[in-house]
Amino acid sequence: MTDPAELFDRLRRAPDIEAPDLVAVDATDRLLLDEAAGLLAACGPGEVAVVDDAFGALTLGAVALHGAADVRVHQDLLVGELALGRNAERTGLTGTYRSLPLGPELVDGARLVLVQAPKALDALREIAEVVAAASTSAGVTVLVGGRVKHMTHAMNDVLRSSFGDVSATLARQKSRVLVARDPRPGPFSFPRCQEHADVGLTVCAHGAVFAGPRIDLGTRALLGALDRMSDATTALDLGCGTGVLAAALARSRPELTVLAVDQSAAAVASATATAAANGLAERIRVVRDDAAATVADGSVDLVVCNPPFHVGAAVVTTAADRLFAAAARVLRPGGELWTVYNGSLRYKPALSRLVGPTKVADATAKFTVTVSTRR
Ligand SMILES: C[S@@+](CC[C@H](N)C(=O)[O-])C[C@H]1O[C@@H](n2cnc3c(N)ncnc32)[C@H](O)[C@@H]1O
Repeated sequence: MTDPAELFDRLRRAPDIEAPDLVAVDATDRLLLDEAAGLLAACGPGEVAVVDDAFGALTLGAVALHGAADVRVHQDLLVGELALGRNAERTGLTGTYRSLPLGPELVDGARLVLVQAPKALDALREIAEVVAAASTSAGVTVLVGGRVKHMTHAMNDVLRSSFGDVSATLARQKSRVLVARDPRPGPFSFPRCQEHADVGLTVCAHGAVFAGPRIDLGTRALLGALDRMSDATTALDLGCGTGVLAAALARSRPELTVLAVDQSAAAVASATATAAANGLAERIRVVRDDAAATVADGSVDLVVCNPPFHVGAAVVTTAADRLFAAAARVLRPGGELWTVYNGSLRYKPALSRLVGPTKVADATAKFTVTVSTRR
């Protein structure tokens, strides 16, 4: 078995952003692996599952440092899944794990589930419900690790809805682990669907998706501009979340072919459910990819995008810029990108530089809606 420092030194964040202050392995990964050591040693092949491993440290740590075999992994973010793949290759550990959707096949028969605490409580709720429902989960232990500053008592309560025994370990280097045992399977809460009579759509959401089944105010601002968007044959909802923009476009323009892409598995599952709930499943193609990588250059007439704005303090604009650059790549010359952002963000120069001439279409106290024409 490998030395932890030797393994962790070789892990990278790529294809996610690399920067001196951004790490591929954090104190929570290390604490989770240390807390799990005894349980990992007692697990046979196929008995360890990992959820939301950031860049692969949990999965590859369980394999290389603790002898876990045939680990099953679910990562909401595609960039994490790709990073895990690259790190496995780099460390000679390809083939030691399988990536799976968040569902029974991920956790059936697992005795230990390691979880990097997701940001949204509903994301944790969905993970807990899926694990507790696994038919053979009676002896399962779930370890949920996170930064102390991001952990609240509400997380314990969420775990208590699905597990009879929930406790917390002592904090170490500002991280803490919650331990859940004694699963109490209950009804599934996801996807949650909510009817929005004002926009004539039902919105469906899995736990980790942006805004849940509600419609974000920025999204509403963009919906308000729908009628002013140019004629199009093909449209792309870039970073589709629940797919509310894709559904609104498909609904209002029967001739339009609509694509919806997002790098989050929860978003893709949600957008698929939203399309179905509105009778639009045949009209909207939903794909999980990073920044529209599966969409051909110059193939789209219209892009709508409500970009992410809080990925982490250091990379706020980079995440949005990546989507704007993606929009520029997939748009045909003369095609339009419609986007919305918090007025304080001043994205207009970036939009003009990356896409083409950009005009403000609407500006409220909080949101700016712009249209950029691909040069
Ligand atoms: C602010 S949310 C908007 C979601 C949805 N369009 C709405 O208006 O409710 C931004 C979305 O972009 C997605 N996203 C962020 N970076 C992405 C990337 N590189 N590739 C694909 N999707 C991305 C996020 O997962 C998230 O669902």
